[in-house]
Amino acid sequence: MLHKESFAGRKVLITGGLGFIGSNLARRLVQLKAQVTLVDSLIPEYGGNLFNIAGLEDSVRVNISDVRDEHSMRYLVQGQDYLFNLAGQTSHLDSMQDPLTDLEINAKAQLFILEACRKFAPEIKIVFASTRQVYGKPEYLPVDEKHPLRPVDVNGVNKLAGEWYHILYKDVHGIKTCVLRLTNTIGPGMRVKDARQTFLGVWIRLLMEGKPFEVWNGNQLRDFTYVDDAVDAFLMTAASDQINGETMNLGGSPSVSLKELAELLIKVNGSGEYTVKDFPTERKQIDIGDYYTDFNLIRRRLGWEPKVPLNEALRRTLDYYRKHLDKYV
Ligand SMILES: NC(=O)c1ccc[n+]([C@@H]2O[C@H](COP(=O)([O-])OP(=O)(O)OC[C@H]3O[C@@H](n4cnc5c(N)ncnc54)[C@H](O)[C@@H]3O)[C@@H](O)[C@H]2O)c1
Repeated sequence: MLHKESFAGRKVLITGGLGFIGSNLARRLVQLKAQVTLVDSLIPEYGGNLFNIAGLEDSVRVNISDVRDEHSMRYLVQGQDYLFNLAGQTSHLDSMQDPLTDLEINAKAQLFILEACRKFAPEIKIVFASTRQVYGKPEYLPVDEKHPLRPVDVNGVNKLAGEWYHILYKDVHGIKTCVLRLTNTIGPGMRVKDARQTFLGVWIRLLMEGKPFEVWNGNQLRDFTYVDDAVDAFLMTAASDQINGETMNLGGSPSVSLKELAELLIKVNGSGEYTVKDFPTERKQIDIGDYYTDFNLIRRRLGWEPKVPLNEALRRTLDYYRKHLDKYV
């Protein structure tokens, strides 16, 4: 099994572990026989959900605390071999309406975490979940890691600070850190209640409820990573010490326009309707236009490649919410 030797019996902490990606990572790490602790604040506006770890309750430790709590973090990192640092405020719009909360979680708390590691767990390996949002509006496509950094919203600025703190702690303090810049990630466990995590979440909810969903503009290009592929990337990055101090993009399916995505979603579901609307003004201001990723760096360095095609990713996601929508709305 992939990475068994790296993780069996090892102690792993996942911040944001009750969230979408964190819980999928936890599930895989339990299969790999790691000793897993999840830390999550379960703030209702974010993606944390205890149902995400259904069936795992006896196999993981759950610590409901906030990464902004310096003392909790100090306690939690001790003795850990790996830290998957995924806790974050993920809504771009919320970051514009409440910029200081985004700053506290996505930047300041990252320093608490890194300081706790420097003082109490200097041997730990950290993988930080960043975002394609740090690039802003693409100047060229596909976007590689050399693309200029010019975020279009507060979330992008704070995530950029968060990633640079991680790299700095490698460069100055020798802590083993790596950064992954994720593109739209989809799969079972994603937030579907509203569009806070991704527009696709609310599309899926409305589709399941038999209601039409809205596609804004519809011509923008996007790429998508299925969550199992993202989990592979986190594990491969954690297991390799050759890439410490590096920042790598994750990508996915060939790019599709949002209208093509809407059509595909309806086809995979077997039914559904959507309407095309103009962008609401407050969204338009922070929209990045077309985006898709060049992920050759991680392919070259670690051999990571996305394996699950978009139609299969949508099929698995829809199957999940057909069964479990009530736990997510
Ligand atoms: N899903 C995507 O498409 C995507 C894209 C780019 C980047 N990312 C990054 O990946 C990471 C995981 O994202 P996700 O999609 O699983 O989102 P998510 O919202 O499902 O997971 C984040 C988790 O962090 C927790 N959290 C938030 N603030 C916290 C705090 N102060 N203390 C403790 N826990 C806190 C939330 O409760 C949630 O469970 C995030 O850092 C996000 O920025 C995700």
